[in-house]
Amino acid sequence: MSIVLVTGSAGLIGSETSKRFHEEGLDILGVDNDMRAYFFGEGASTDSSRQGLEKKLTRYSHRTLDIRDREGVESLFREYGKDLALIVHTAAQPSHDWRPGSHTRTSA
Ligand SMILES: NC(=O)c1ccc[n+]([C@@H]2O[C@H](COP(=O)([O-])OP(=O)(O)OC[C@H]3O[C@@H](n4cnc5c(N)ncnc54)[C@H](O)[C@@H]3O)[C@@H](O)[C@H]2O)c1
Repeated sequence: MSIVLVTGSAGLIGSETSKRFHEEGLDILGVDNDMRAYFFGEGASTDSSRQGLEKKLTRYSHRTLDIRDREGVESLFREYGKDLALIVHTAAQPSHDWRPGSHTRTSA
């Protein structure tokens, strides 16, 4: 089995990455804890994006996991091990909200 691990899979780049590799026939393991809602407020949540991926991509499975959770990440690697063909890391705090009309900036 060839699995692509995509962190930040519900975000802008992560969701497109998931779709792209799914189209190529690979299984997708998405990791995203909707930290975006914490950064920018509930209106910026990527939860609907996650739901869309789970609905449309038949070989997509999701883990709601904070990538800073070392134990959780190590456990994921133990579980999937050599089945992981590729890791694309996009989970992060972007500098600003990309939604149209939004000019929110983080305060932290
Ligand atoms: N979008 C662009 O045009 C662009 C251009 C250059 C660089 N980047 C960089 O690429 C990265 C991703 O950008 P994006 O536009 O996809 O952002 P995004 O906010 O749309 O997606 C990031 C995703 O990561 C998740 N996330 C954040 N912290 C997490 C954590 N600790 N654990 C698990 N999930 C977490 C968020 O919930 C979100 O769904 C950012 O660092 C951004 O600065 C983006």
